[in-house]
Amino acid sequence: MKANVFRGIESYGIEEVERPRAQAGEAVVRVTLTTICGTDLHIVRGEYPVKPGLVIGHETVGVVDEVGIGVTGYEPGDRVLVGAITPCGQCGACLSGHLSQCGHGDGYEAIGGWRLGNTMHGAQAEYVRIPHAQANLAKIPPGVTDEQVVLLSDIASTGFSGAEAGGVRPGDAVVVFAQGPIGLCATAGAKLMGAALVIGVDGDDTRLAMARRMGADVVIDHRGKDVVAEVKRLTGGGVDVAIEALGTQQTFESALRCLRPGGTLSSLGVYSGKLQLPYEAFAAGLGDHRIVTTLCPGGKERMRRLMELVRMGRIDLRPLLTHRFALQDIREAYSLFADRREGVIKVAVRP
Ligand SMILES: NC(=O)c1ccc[n+]([C@@H]2O[C@H](COP(=O)([O-])OP(=O)(O)OC[C@H]3O[C@@H](n4cnc5c(N)ncnc54)[C@H](O)[C@@H]3O)[C@@H](O)[C@H]2O)c1
Ligand SMILES: [Zn+2]
Ligand SMILES: [Zn+2]
Repeated sequence: MKANVFRGIESYGIEEVERPRAQAGEAVVRVTLTTICGTDLHIVRGEYPVKPGLVIGHETVGVVDEVGIGVTGYEPGDRVLVGAITPCGQCGACLSGHLSQCGHGDGYEAIGGWRLGNTMHGAQAEYVRIPHAQANLAKIPPGVTDEQVVLLSDIASTGFSGAEAGGVRPGDAVVVFAQGPIGLCATAGAKLMGAALVIGVDGDDTRLAMARRMGADVVIDHRGKDVVAEVKRLTGGGVDVAIEALGTQQTFESALRCLRPGGTLSSLGVYSGKLQLPYEAFAAGLGDHRIVTTLCPGGKERMRRLMELVRMGRIDLRPLLTHRFALQDIREAYSLFADRREGVIKVAVRP
């Protein structure tokens, strides 16, 4: 089969590789649609280490092709969505409700639930082997298309979780720092959860326009603006929930500064180096603030719920799929996505 194989820094592309087979408890899915994630860019740039020879990609929409021993209720031909995070459903972490931190052994392991395109061959391929298939194959309801659900696997699950983990309540004021794919979904998630005011912050005109389309009531261009002062002015003193969707000291700090006392900073960004808390914004530790972090929720029940939102018309993520490529042309897709040319937000990749 054809697959996008990582060989080394900036060295990757379509190769002919062996088609996977389903072992006990697994399934093989024929991929009908996948996408490229910002995390894949970190992989091909060598910023997130994976083994050379790995097939990358972690978003799977497809058709069940083979079902391993012990997997029940699925048959070849079933259309399925698989989350980027594939929890086992059995370990201490999973059974404590922390599915994304699923351990590879018995216990917890930070980021352990992320396997596809990380510790196992991934989805930018004609076929992908799904581990713990019983816990991870979510059947796509009839009438719902591949393009309607592909972004639920990762960016929408993650973005919405920023609002959920932040405990957004009806009537809340919410600010979302950065309107990349994740932040745009956090904006949509805050709106879904009933926020009365959603403020989207970015410095890119296309993305600010998309933020409005995804549910932002107000957008702030951070270029040359005091964003914190503007947010405080708009909210009469601070937001209930600030969602950080970039992963920098500056946006983390601004998110904290935007909070009202008792507010929650819900962080989705991936940080590097050291992160510091500004003393006054942290109210010296006495502001009744909460700081929460979330890794993309996965598993079939999460995917089922997200697909219900799509099926019932509560959410439409198709505007975020700005470009379409054949798997064969995936290097072109990576290049466009990495350079953010032509107003790209997400690319649909079809094997
Ligand atoms: N928690 C998770 O499970 C999870 C999953 C996937 C990605 N992530 C992380 O989420 C973050 C966002 O991912 P993405 O793919 O949306 O990123 P992206 O790089 O595509 O988008 C980032 C956006 O930030 C904007 N920006 C840059 N500087 C800014 C500033 N100072 N203020 C406001 N906006 C600014 C850019 O214009 C861009 O639109 C990354 O750190 C990524 O690693 C987390
Ligand atoms: Zn991802
Ligand atoms: Zn587990």
